Amino acid sequence: MTPRPTDSFKNYCIANWKMHGDEEKVSAWTQDIATYRSKNDPFDSCAVILCPPMPLIPAARDACHKASLLYGAQDCHTCDEGPYTGFSSPKLLASMGATYCIIGHSERRFFETDDMIHHKIKAALQQRMTPILCVGESWDHRQSGHHFQHVQHQVESALHTIDAPCIIAYEPIWAIGTGKTPTLNDIQDMHTHIHQCVRDLNPSHPTPILYGGSVSGDNVQDIVALTCVQGVLVGGASLTSTSFMRILAHMMKT
Ligand code: PGA
Repeated sequence: MTPRPTDSFKNYCIANWKMHGDEEKVSAWTQDIATYRSKNDPFDSCAVILCPPMPLIPAARDACHKASLLYGAQDCHTCDEGPYTGFSSPKLLASMGATYCIIGHSERRFFETDDMIHHKIKAALQQRMTPILCVGESWDHRQSGHHFQHVQHQVESALHTIDAPCIIAYEPIWAIGTGKTPTLNDIQDMHTHIHQCVRDLNPSHPTPILYGGSVSGDNVQDIVALTCVQGVLVGGASLTSTSFMRILAHMMKT
C-alpha cells in the first residue's frame, strides 16, 4: 500500500507490539486484520499501522504488503549509520519500507533526553517516515498539578523548528499497561492543551493527536468519541487480532 499523507486519514489505530511477537504471529495477525478491514472499512478511512519489534520489520514488510496494511518502527537512532551497537538506523528502517516511527515512548525516555528525541524526529523525517511522538506525564506530575506544563515542554522541545507531518500520542505513563485510564474530561483537557501547543508552533501540516494507555475494546468507544482524539496507540490489546479487532470495530464507526 502506498502511504497516504498523514492528514488524509480520518483516524489512526496503531499497534505497538513492544517486545512481543514472532514471524508466524505477524503473518496470522495481518491476515486476520486485513480480512476484517476489507469487510468493515473498504475505503481505508482508518489507518491501521503495525509497529512490531525491529527484527520483525522484514516479516511485516512482506505480510503488510499482501494485507494492504501500514507498518512502522518503535524507535530509530539520530544518525543513519555509525558505531552505535544495537541501535536502528532510520535510513535502514525506511529502506525496509517502514513509513512510521514511534519516537520518545516513555519506556525509552529513561535514557533519552528531549534533545535526542528532537533529533530522532528530524532523522525519521529526513527518511520520509512519519514520527509518532509519545508524550505523557508521570503520576507524580499529575498529582502535583504539573502535568500540563510537563507535556507542553515535551511537545515544544521535540517539535520546535519542525514543520513536517507528525503524529502525537498522549500516553500518561501511569496509564500504560496498568488498566487505568484518565477520565474522559482529563483526556479532553490534555488533548486541547496539546492542540494549543501545536498551534503555537504554527506548523503548516495538520498534527493528529492520539490517545494511548490501557486502550481496550471496552473503553475505546468513549475515548474516540471525543472530537479532539484522532485515534489510539494500543499496546497490550494489540497483541491478539481478536482484541485489536474489537478496538478497530469502534474506530471504523467514528
Ligand atoms: P498499553 O500500552 O496499551 O498496553 O497500555 C500502550 C503503549 O505503551 O503504547
